[in-house]
Amino acid sequence: MILSGKRLLITGVITKDSIAFHAAERAQREGAQILLTSFGRVRRMTERAAQRLPEPVDVLELDVNKPEDLTALTASLSERWGSVDGVLHAIAFAPQDALGGKFMTAPAESAMAAFQTSAFSLKALAAAVAPLMESGGSVVGLDFDATKAWPIYDWMGVAKAALESVSRYLARDLGPQGIRVNLISAGPLGTVAAQGIPGFDALAELWRSQAPLGWDVDDPEPVANAICWLLSDYSRAISGEIVHVDGGFHAVGAPPVG
Ligand SMILES: NC(=O)c1ccc[n+]([C@@H]2O[C@H](COP(=O)([O-])OP(=O)(O)OC[C@H]3O[C@@H](n4cnc5c(N)ncnc54)[C@H](O)[C@@H]3O)[C@@H](O)[C@H]2O)c1
Repeated sequence: MILSGKRLLITGVITKDSIAFHAAERAQREGAQILLTSFGRVRRMTERAAQRLPEPVDVLELDVNKPEDLTALTASLSERWGSVDGVLHAIAFAPQDALGGKFMTAPAESAMAAFQTSAFSLKALAAAVAPLMESGGSVVGLDFDATKAWPIYDWMGVAKAALESVSRYLARDLGPQGIRVNLISAGPLGTVAAQGIPGFDALAELWRSQAPLGWDVDDPEPVANAICWLLSDYSRAISGEIVHVDGGFHAVGAPPVG
């Protein structure tokens, strides 16, 4: 059990299809104690998902853009646990006019909303949890390869490029405290966030044909396993890294021919 005795905060569970739900489930099976976060209208959905974990858990309030929620989160974790060993950032949002082929027309406010919720928030969350990681810890975020421009991904793609950079600066600033910061660059998975992107299915189909190992959009387990590995001591000398869990897609330039 690679996470035995670890206390982990898992954000980003909205349904049982969420990547974070699978990470939470796997983390519990690996011996971790976990808490989830959610906010506003979707909190009920998160609470329902929390009841479907092997061990039902509490859901703490967190809109990652609200400083007062972040302050309350630190206080609540301190009261419940005293210390935290790891946190999963599984949070992304872009307004509909910033996605789906609207790159050239998206207003600045929408691009900035995508940046704030999907990239700046990694710093915001890490800063809220870092004071509770006195003996070091692990921060893990979820990326979609931002080294290239994709169809339909638009300002979310730009936000992911920022997330990649934020993770490196966090690795720099939190490393001296023994806190590592890494991202997993995942292939497409059929979650609520993904289905909200028009044209997602075409991108998923491309993955299926091009990834050397093949790719199943309905199988989040490889990503969940890698998250648990990055939250575990097995990755203790790794920081500022982006691990591709994408069937090898990133390594090849085109689908096989002939
Ligand atoms: N599904 C994919 O194809 C895919 C691929 C690569 C990376 N990712 C990334 O994985 C992460 C999780 O997404 P998912 O695909 O599991 O979808 P999801 O819809 O299940 O999860 C997204 C989560 O973000 C949360 N969120 C949005 N705004 C928030 C805010 N202001 N404060 C706190 N939480 C907020 C939502 O409540 C939700 O739980 C995201 O960063 C996403 O970009 C997804």
